[in-house]
Amino acid sequence: MLQLHLDARLHDLPLHTATLDVNQLGQTAIDLFANQPRLPGIVLCRDRQFIGIVSRQAFFEGMSRRYGQDLYSRRPLQVFHTCNPTPALVLTADTPIATAANQTLQRPLEQAYEPIAVQLSPNSYQLLSARDLLLAHTEIHRLTATQLREQSDRLTQTVNSLQQTQTQLIQAEKMSALGQMVAGIAHEINNPISFVYGNVDHAQKYSRDLMTLIQLYQRHYPEPNREIQAAIEEIDLDFLIADLDKTLNSMHLGASRVREIVRSLRTFSRLDEAQTKAVSLHDGIDSTLLILRSRLREQRDRPEIQIHKHYGEIPRIECYAGQINQVFLNLLSNAIDAIEARYQQDALLEPQIEIRTELQIAPGQPPRVAVYIIDNGIGMSSEVRQRLFTPFFTTKPVGQGTGLGLAISYPIVVEKHGGRIRCESEPGVGTEFCLEIPVALPAKAEVAV
Ligand SMILES: Nc1ncnc2c1ncn2[C@@H]1O[C@H](COP(=O)(O)OP(=O)(O)O)[C@@H](O)[C@H]1O
Ligand SMILES: [Mg+2]
Repeated sequence: MLQLHLDARLHDLPLHTATLDVNQLGQTAIDLFANQPRLPGIVLCRDRQFIGIVSRQAFFEGMSRRYGQDLYSRRPLQVFHTCNPTPALVLTADTPIATAANQTLQRPLEQAYEPIAVQLSPNSYQLLSARDLLLAHTEIHRLTATQLREQSDRLTQTVNSLQQTQTQLIQAEKMSALGQMVAGIAHEINNPISFVYGNVDHAQKYSRDLMTLIQLYQRHYPEPNREIQAAIEEIDLDFLIADLDKTLNSMHLGASRVREIVRSLRTFSRLDEAQTKAVSLHDGIDSTLLILRSRLREQRDRPEIQIHKHYGEIPRIECYAGQINQVFLNLLSNAIDAIEARYQQDALLEPQIEIRTELQIAPGQPPRVAVYIIDNGIGMSSEVRQRLFTPFFTTKPVGQGTGLGLAISYPIVVEKHGGRIRCESEPGVGTEFCLEIPVALPAKAEVAV
């Protein structure tokens, strides 16, 4: 097989050398054709000057006519050439193959398969068979098509990766702005709430002491003077005593809730993004659930979404915690959306999301933690599943979906953490996402950041 390139010319093809002087006898040509069965023809010259060609086919046609053999074999080739002139297509050796093929095919039909005389230098000619030329032309066509396809594949890849990078940049920017804001608010709330939380305890103790003191007074001075008596009635002392402790208790509860929320916001926003840290994925999931609390609650048009946690024994994970939390947020928000979509069609649905974690140890593989997020939402078709991670792919109404959640999650898990995301889903039944994250960050992922 010939090794051709797109720019190939006639001198790159197999050329045949067979030149005879017109004064040589016809028999010489017969011998030449007999000895070289693949020879397509002969170049004829006189005193080393090119005068034409005789193709194998034309030569044997002439010979096979009546008396042809007798007539031509013992006479100079000049006789044959005069009686059977063949118009020759002469091309220079640097003619491009496509041009040569065009010219060859433009000849009259009966000459279409005649060999072509290729001029190498002013007095040197070789022959090229039309078949070899056309084969080469076809090959170049194929090469061109392949190259075009490769180029267009490369372009598509470039566009895709540009789109992916842009998405990541936009999202990273948004996340870092959001993370900073959340962290800022959490920090600002943290101090005042610590005062409240820390002092409610004292306030509770002081108020109990005061109550004890009042009760002592009441016991020892059962008949207070009129002014005190009036004040006791005015403030409804019995009710106040009963209620004060309850009030302080609920303040205590409220303050500790706020403290918990602040802690979760800080876990979630993790401003240590540029650094990896060994963190508990369970904390990450819990803080994400807390952020989503208002969405999980009972709504006007649907019941509360139950969360079933089955947390396994898993070690801390070395990761970019803020980003992994972002992945949990994306997966859990999608699960909520899917459940809401299904509830519209099936009002008997008991909405639930199951979160399962486990340590996976397989021989020859680094240990991984798997996190399953399983919803009983609307599910998805295999067409949707195939396009899940494509940037801007969404099936949600304008304004609700951006199609970025999973497109961002994928590189975070796969490229940054050397993990995997798998998804199984059945329309009308639900969806299961599984994240697998190596316990230790692979060396390569660390460099790629
Ligand atoms: N848990 C799920 N159940 C059903 N469909 C899902 C689920 N998660 C993702 N999808 C599908 O994948 C699409 C892309 O998700 P995502 O990248 O988060 O973008 P968005 O949520 O903005 O649409 C969604 O529009 C939805 O069709
Ligand atoms: Mg989403």
